[in-house]
Amino acid sequence: MIVYLNGKWIPENRAFISIQDHGFLYGDGVYETLRVKDGDLLFLKEHLDRLFNSLSKISLEQVYSREKWREILETIVRRNRHKEAVVRLTVTRGVGPHGLDPDLCEKPTVVITSRPYLGYEERLYKKGMTLAIVNVRRNTPEATPPSIKSISCLNSVLAKIESKKVKAHEALMLSDEGFLTEGTISNIFLVKGGQLFTPALDGCQLPGVTRAEVCRLARELTMDVRETKLTAADISLADEIFLTSTLLEVMPVSLVKTTHDASTLFHKRDWPITRRLMICYTSARRKSNRVRGPI
Ligand code: PDD
Repeated sequence: MIVYLNGKWIPENRAFISIQDHGFLYGDGVYETLRVKDGDLLFLKEHLDRLFNSLSKISLEQVYSREKWREILETIVRRNRHKEAVVRLTVTRGVGPHGLDPDLCEKPTVVITSRPYLGYEERLYKKGMTLAIVNVRRNTPEATPPSIKSISCLNSVLAKIESKKVKAHEALMLSDEGFLTEGTISNIFLVKGGQLFTPALDGCQLPGVTRAEVCRLARELTMDVRETKLTAADISLADEIFLTSTLLEVMPVSLVKTTHDASTLFHKRDWPITRRLMICYTSARRKSNRVRGPI
């Protein structure tokens, strides 16, 4: 596999970053994960919008123009001859051997990889994933804003470790105030009485690219979409639950339990509205492949 490292194209097994890189030392950096379908990068504009937002929130320069990013991202896919792939771009503060002060780093480190997309088991899309509401709370927006797609994922890693103790596929984190936020790698939606509910973007979650697309598609289907504050009680009342992310796309949830007392809040095995949205999402992303609008 050929990777991109600071302006150079090199084989993966010869790509190294410094042990003094602030990404490695302090988790000081941001990333994006993009899906490649039939050789095309999906939702490139949206991912670049979020990248630029993350960079600006950590006071890092844009590194490259949008056109340059597009060129590099398309090149990595082409050079690896990937049709179905996952492209990850990482930008860190760079090398700075003398301490945490960001000003000690001269220039950012940029790493881009493309690996074949393996996907999730078909069985999960048919039977649904299990979710555990964990005790680990989502970072507060005032501390480490979850709206930044940061490479410091320890908050999510701790939630994931906790959810694995009850053998759940994904962890669901509450905010400091006890509202639903998001999963470790996904956003959450509830369906109730034909309406769609998802936590409002109040700074306690990542503004998912897939989340936005699903909201758009649901509104196109004239569904009522409510972006609002939700609690664990809403989980118990939901007709359907699903998760969204670049890699999961739209994934139904069959079971939600809590880790603290292992009680079951939700257990369903049919998802008529979720299924409709899964189909819509698949065809919308197919169309978005063909439309290569301005980025
Ligand atoms: N994860 N919330 C978190 C914490 C995430 O890490 C992700 C994405 C999402 C969904 O965002 P999107 O729809 O833009 O993929 C929500 C990516 C896939 C990752 O971790 O690589």
